Amino acid sequence: MTYQEVLENARKNLAPRCRVCRECDGRACRGEVPGAGGKGTGAAFIRNVEKLREITLNLDVLYDNRGQDSRASFWGREFAAPVFAAPIGGMAHNYTPAMDEAAWTKAVVDGCADAGVLAFTGDGVNPELLELPLRWMKERGGLGVPTIKPWGMETVLEKVEKAKAADPPAIAMDVDSAGLPFLAAQGGDAGPKSAKALRQMAEAAGRPFIVKGIMTVEGARKALEAGAWGIVVSNHGGRVLDHTPATCEVLPEIAAAMGGKLRLFVDGGVRTGVDAFKMLALGADAVLIGRPLVTAAYGGGAEGVRIYMEKVIAELRDTMKMTGCAVIGDITERKIRR
Ligand SMILES: Cc1cc2nc3c(=O)[nH]c(=O)nc-3n(C[C@H](O)[C@H](O)[C@H](O)COP(=O)(O)O)c2cc1C
Repeated sequence: MTYQEVLENARKNLAPRCRVCRECDGRACRGEVPGAGGKGTGAAFIRNVEKLREITLNLDVLYDNRGQDSRASFWGREFAAPVFAAPIGGMAHNYTPAMDEAAWTKAVVDGCADAGVLAFTGDGVNPELLELPLRWMKERGGLGVPTIKPWGMETVLEKVEKAKAADPPAIAMDVDSAGLPFLAAQGGDAGPKSAKALRQMAEAAGRPFIVKGIMTVEGARKALEAGAWGIVVSNHGGRVLDHTPATCEVLPEIAAAMGGKLRLFVDGGVRTGVDAFKMLALGADAVLIGRPLVTAAYGGGAEGVRIYMEKVIAELRDTMKMTGCAVIGDITERKIRR
């Protein structure tokens, strides 16, 4: 299967909820939540893509070429590149019945594992959203990071115990889900979390705890104080608050303040290996990709996910070659212009 075939299949399978645009930039689907779009005017989703596109690269091929090594280590495991799947859940709610939650979560967990990387996985009011991917990641030796929504603490702690049974290397919470337009309507009790509640979750997790949905230095400091090992700089793909800055705009200041104290992941608008390179240059330790993986899975199942991830990793290596980077650590702010 080629990537073009994956896209053609996806266009049929995702219609009318996602148009599989030439560029997945949030314009055609603005305001479509549920759906694939951004909340309100869709400005935050659109800005994630636009601001990342504005950053340019410093071409430099005058060096002694020893090849490009994109590998990166997290939690004592080695990955083909610091590029992971972002947690996405709710196929019935957001997309089409061409793929159910079981097929989607299996495709993304297996496809990422086959490409030498890993998937963060989602959660929802329906317990299947958390539990199905736990089953697949357990089959792959705990290869995945379950991401639990900020429910009331009793529910959170129950879900942490379920997640631990799959033996993942880390557990995350998408704290920004407090702003999801449909969660309350579905009967969920997700809301803002105090430092005390976060610390309780970090302790219950008993392994690296990642707070997803941080957009300010202050938020990053609070996550650190609450015992987080890492954060995901994220605005949930523009789905929780209209008119936030782009993630690539806030990442450098968060990296300057917190680099070395917290591991920094980022998502929002990453579509290619070139985009991943830009985020790494802005200070991220690793990059998460969301919507394009849904397209890949609807177009080709686990194979589609593997093909897409391998394409992104190849693009990242090519960008490293053309900017004079031999290893991921060579990707610094000097390699880009903004
Ligand atoms: C349909 C949909 C469902 C999502 N579900 C979750 C989820 O269950 N948990 C979570 O942490 N983030 C969820 N997200 C947000 C993604 O993890 C990620 O932050 C966002 O998609 C990144 O932006 P991108 O799609 O532009 O790459 C979801 C996003 C979409 C589009």
